[in-house]
Amino acid sequence: MGSFYHQIFVTLVLLLSIFLPCSLSSTTRRFEFNVKWKNVKRLCNTRPVLTVNGEYPGPTISVHEGDNVEVKVTNRVDMNTTLHWHGIRQLRTGWADGPAYVTQCPIGTGKSYTYRFTVVDQRGTLWWHAHLSWQRSTVNGAFIIYPRMPYPFSVPIQEEIPITFGEWFNSDVMAIEKDMMLTGVGPNASDAYTINGLPGPLYNCSLKDTFIKTVEHGKTYLLRIINAALNDELFFAVADHTLTVVEIDAVYTKPFTTKAIMIAPGQTTNVLLTANQKPDSTGMFVLAARPYLTSIFPFDNSTTIGFLKYKTTKSKETVELPLPPYTLPSNLPALQDTEFATEFAKQLRSLGSAQYPCKVPKKVHKQVITTIGLNLQECTPNKTCKGFRNQRFLASMNNQSFIRPPISILECHYKNLSMANLFSNFPEKPPVPFNYTGVNPLTENMNAEFGSKLVVVPYGTRLEIVLQDTNFLNPENHPIHVHGHNFFIVGRGFGNFDAEKDPLHYNLVDPPERNTVAVPIGGWAAIRIHADNPGVWFIHCHLEEHTTWGLAMGLVVQEGKNPSQCLIPPPDDLPPC
Ligand code: C2O
Ligand code: CU
Repeated sequence: MGSFYHQIFVTLVLLLSIFLPCSLSSTTRRFEFNVKWKNVKRLCNTRPVLTVNGEYPGPTISVHEGDNVEVKVTNRVDMNTTLHWHGIRQLRTGWADGPAYVTQCPIGTGKSYTYRFTVVDQRGTLWWHAHLSWQRSTVNGAFIIYPRMPYPFSVPIQEEIPITFGEWFNSDVMAIEKDMMLTGVGPNASDAYTINGLPGPLYNCSLKDTFIKTVEHGKTYLLRIINAALNDELFFAVADHTLTVVEIDAVYTKPFTTKAIMIAPGQTTNVLLTANQKPDSTGMFVLAARPYLTSIFPFDNSTTIGFLKYKTTKSKETVELPLPPYTLPSNLPALQDTEFATEFAKQLRSLGSAQYPCKVPKKVHKQVITTIGLNLQECTPNKTCKGFRNQRFLASMNNQSFIRPPISILECHYKNLSMANLFSNFPEKPPVPFNYTGVNPLTENMNAEFGSKLVVVPYGTRLEIVLQDTNFLNPENHPIHVHGHNFFIVGRGFGNFDAEKDPLHYNLVDPPERNTVAVPIGGWAAIRIHADNPGVWFIHCHLEEHTTWGLAMGLVVQEGKNPSQCLIPPPDDLPPC
């Protein structure tokens, strides 16, 4: 009799597993995004900013795992634009990835393009942003993927709290970028950091622009944290509360509790927070973010704060800002706390459960070693350069400073245009080996070469990339982002990567899986990628100033033998250049 019920059970499970994914995956979520100007006032300063649908910060996209997504983007401004779905794998749909001149030509004024893709085997918090010039400064929003299965953590969640960090500039952001390229100097720093677009009371005229969230004592909240800042890694803490990290870049982690987090531009982090403290008479706890500073360039060293307000039993609840002065959380790391950043990174591990296994490649077919760093470039004759020593600042990978071509690299590659070869010779080792983190940062600085260089690998390649920081000019923490794939951070360290010894200490069991790695200042990180997504994929530093200076390259994953290992044909409305 037991076996009879067992059989019914098995049949049911089978039926469910056959029908459930089909019926669920047929859901298509449609969104209309109009890119347009909107006057926004912050710090007593009103200026037109680029937005989607007039919203600042931009609208949230919420979907379920397995959904088809269609976002019709219409450009209603006087400049080109593209959008990118940061962290979405875009399996076989590289046409919808978005980086300008890499996977598509930009959407021109008055034109539309519909991004079509499916969210495959991903769940959690990601985000979307413009991917041309510095437009992502204000054109960004959360991209939330609800799981089909319950969360792997069992605490009941009272509510979700989205927290997106940004940077506010009092002047036109695109002009700042133009200016830095014209003069060769570092860019102007931002005027404020923001939480969901709100700078908070530590800035001029910003009392009203303060993030306040009411919580209930004893309840647990899921914070979906996104760093959408242009140029700054951030520390974040909530006074007197601990945070339990459960997910990074839409991949579950082994939960761990921490006094604060470090989050680099491009990264997302989900944490649980339990409102279990005893509030004072105001009922308020400060939450704060300020930069993790490793740069020598002018930077914004200010702090954005907001508040958690514990609900009281009073019938009339007033949510009023407590009076200054405001004390920063004592658990917020100091500006240069590399020790905290390092310890925090060490604790990040893939969940690696039966349901969510960690699929780190144990063996690799190919290793690429590349330096990442800054350059002090000789001034072109007849130009004036206002950077250090009348030279200009640049950035590069293996001394190649990336230039975006005037065409779409993906299109050239797909259509087999002869130009495609022009792009394909990214050096797979540093062209001139040297003491990467030990040279004199000023006298031994090499001039970069220019190009749109790519590494080409066959479908299915298990690839290791070692990202080696240099101390040309200054060692810095670089958040390196890979499009089209997640990767596993199998090793990291300070100083120069040792090809003999360091791999012996790789974590090949439960390394963190993500799409953006904060490479340690004056150090290295080794990442492993299973290149199973055909297309052309941008790899770059997510500090916008460094991308502009050329800290980027491309990864071409060739098509496989089966149709399921090939790109879908380009959509009809793909914009022309
Ligand atoms: Cu968040 Cu190349 O992008
Ligand atoms: Cu960088």
